[in-house]
Amino acid sequence: MRTLEEHALVPINSAVATRRKGGFFISICFVSHRAAMLRGTKKTMFSHRLSDQYSLREIALGDAEELFAVCDTNRTYLRRWLPWLDRTRTPSDTCDFIQRALRQHENKQGFQAVIVVQSRIAGLVGYHRIDWENQSTSLGYWLAGEFQGRGLMTMSCRALIDHAFAALNLNRMTIACATGNTRSRAIPQRLGFTHEGTLRDAEWLYDRYVDHEVYSQLQREWQARIIAQLAAQHPAAPTMKSP
Ligand SMILES: CC(C)(COP(=O)(O)OP(=O)(O)OC[C@H]1O[C@@H](n2cnc3c(N)ncnc32)[C@H](O)[C@@H]1OP(=O)(O)O)[C@@H](O)C(=O)NCCC(=O)NCCS
Repeated sequence: MRTLEEHALVPINSAVATRRKGGFFISICFVSHRAAMLRGTKKTMFSHRLSDQYSLREIALGDAEELFAVCDTNRTYLRRWLPWLDRTRTPSDTCDFIQRALRQHENKQGFQAVIVVQSRIAGLVGYHRIDWENQSTSLGYWLAGEFQGRGLMTMSCRALIDHAFAALNLNRMTIACATGNTRSRAIPQRLGFTHEGTLRDAEWLYDRYVDHEVYSQLQREWQARIIAQLAAQHPAAPTMKSP
């Protein structure tokens, strides 16, 4: 199994449509850039461009101060739906979190990326844990309040979903959101996830239990979605075959 480090994330728009004799084949081409990235370097920091202004890069110990400051500034807003704010009181707490995230990555058990907007950390997105036996993982995310409303998290999730299915060959991705967290729920809904159901009292949030709405996406569904998007961009295509 290849590790996260062996690949760069590949967005949907790198899927390519190719014409072949006898029909129109749409092939989804997920290209691994990692080998090229590694050439000439011993250790390359993972990074992925989402757009001209937005990018993802692997979290690093050097992010502790800034990441803590973002959490601290957004404490009240983030605390509404995230359970760890009261355990995050100093940059050293954030440093501990980053160390755990890096260890998790080293053990191929997960991955955390910071979302960067013009050199500033705007939020975090990552795989909570990877269940290799069942080829499955789940996404967690948050954005600083000022960066909401631009599609930034939807874009970031799309990139990590592409990566999970195309590079890691996982089969299932889930996103669980508190029932009242409508902005969070809008992300899997926007990305075409299936609502599987409600987990009752799934999470203790400071002073109360909240239910979780569980959404899932399967590799085959994600591929079909990409093919449908490509077909919409190439309406003249006479026939289609999945790869
Ligand atoms: C959950 C959270 C990340 C959602 O942030 P968000 O800004 O709504 O999500 P996105 O970055 O994907 O942006 C979507 C918004 O941008 C708009 N948008 C603009 N361009 C867009 C694009 N290209 N693609 C998608 N949406 C776009 C959408 O219409 C939507 O705005 P709307 O809600 O007013 O309709 C954020 O509210 C948050 O961090 N909350 C606190 C922590 C939290 O709840 N984490 C999740 C725990 S499960």
